[in-house]
Amino acid sequence: MTHESKPKTLQERMELNVAALLVMIAIVVSIGGIVTVVPLFYLDSTWEDTARAADGAPAHPELAGVRPYGALELMGRDVYIREGCYTCHSQMVRPFRDEMERYGHYSLAVESKYDHPFQWGSKRTGPDLARVGGKYSDEWHVAHLMDPRQVVPESVMPSYPWLADATLLGDDAVRRMEALRMIGVPYTDAQIAGAAAEVEGKNEMEAMVAYLQMLGTLVPFEEGKAYRE
Ligand code: HEC
Repeated sequence: MTHESKPKTLQERMELNVAALLVMIAIVVSIGGIVTVVPLFYLDSTWEDTARAADGAPAHPELAGVRPYGALELMGRDVYIREGCYTCHSQMVRPFRDEMERYGHYSLAVESKYDHPFQWGSKRTGPDLARVGGKYSDEWHVAHLMDPRQVVPESVMPSYPWLADATLLGDDAVRRMEALRMIGVPYTDAQIAGAAAEVEGKNEMEAMVAYLQMLGTLVPFEEGKAYRE
């Protein structure tokens, strides 16, 4: 019997050496990752707002409106995350006809550029909210958040009446904007200086409505026209 025979092939040697096997697995997996990630840095479609045509003009001038959240919108977004709205709502219209007929133009990567973390999600107990801005009046949103069944009798969405009682602190908005600036969101000094005044005295309900009303409105999509054919 030759149980002690030396491993001969690379395969046999790997199988006898756990550390080497782990290194090889890491190499193979990272090749898979590199192949899927690296091309994105060279694709026009992932960097739409910075893409330039041959003459140096912006290739997609309609993306000029993509901007960071205002102070009040930002506070609303943080309340959205705190309340776990994302557990029932996605913010990602997929590029399928049924989705586009229901919600509007499919989501572009650049629309989430300043979202940290982005709210795409996939769980849809309620409808997708990526294009909800401008769909209803502010009063509708307040009534709906106070008690969804006031406006949609069969709704299973929870009520959030406490948002109307929670007053925002101006300082809070300033600190959040400074933190976001540290990770690359281009807030100007003037925006940060004005943040406290924009938020002070307002409540979380107003912030939430400001946030919901801007969702999906940064790019002026034209009815029935796809951004890229
Ligand atoms: C338990 C799941 C659930 C949670 C959590 C939830 N929702 Fe909803 N939401 C729904 C459902 C279901 C509907 C559809 C019925 C309705 O309009 O109330 C809905 C509808 C909506 C709509 C109207 C969308 C449209 O296009 O008609 C908005 C806006 C909304 N939710 C915002 C929020 C916000 C903001 C939060 C967090 C504060 C939240 N939802 C939390 C389930 C949920």
